[in-house]
Amino acid sequence: MFSINKLLNKSHKAITASGTALILSTIMLSPANAADITTTYDNSCAACHDNGALNAIKKGDSAKWQQLIKQKSMPTLIQSVKGGMSQMPAGGLCDTCNDEDYRKLIEYMSK
Ligand code: HEC
Repeated sequence: MFSINKLLNKSHKAITASGTALILSTIMLSPANAADITTTYDNSCAACHDNGALNAIKKGDSAKWQQLIKQKSMPTLIQSVKGGMSQMPAGGLCDTCNDEDYRKLIEYMSK
């Protein structure tokens, strides 16, 4: 006999399976998560942005960061880090960072 319950159960399983695959691939494709951003900051940006070495804007100086983000816009700032500036080396000492990582790092510093 036809069972709607069996049918629903089957399609539910199929959806769950593809959902799991989707979540897994999202995790693998997604850039560094929040914990990694802290580590990346410590390993790369902190050298200058923690203590304001070479006149780098300090992490946590949110007034200055917010002003800069407003003035130049986030995409411009990301380009600055990637291309380097007068005192900042290209990539800001992070050779695995992508644009999304840089955006997160800048947001992290601006808080
Ligand atoms: C070797 C020192 C150094 C390191 C490492 C460094 N920065 Fe910088 N950064 C600077 C200095 C100095 C400035 C100020 C501009 C200049 O003089 O180059 C600056 C400016 C910036 C700016 C402002 C750019 C603009 O257009 O005004 C951003 C954003 C930034 N840094 C992000 C980062 C990030 C993110 C990292 C880590 C991935 C990083 N920096 C690592 C020294 C550094």
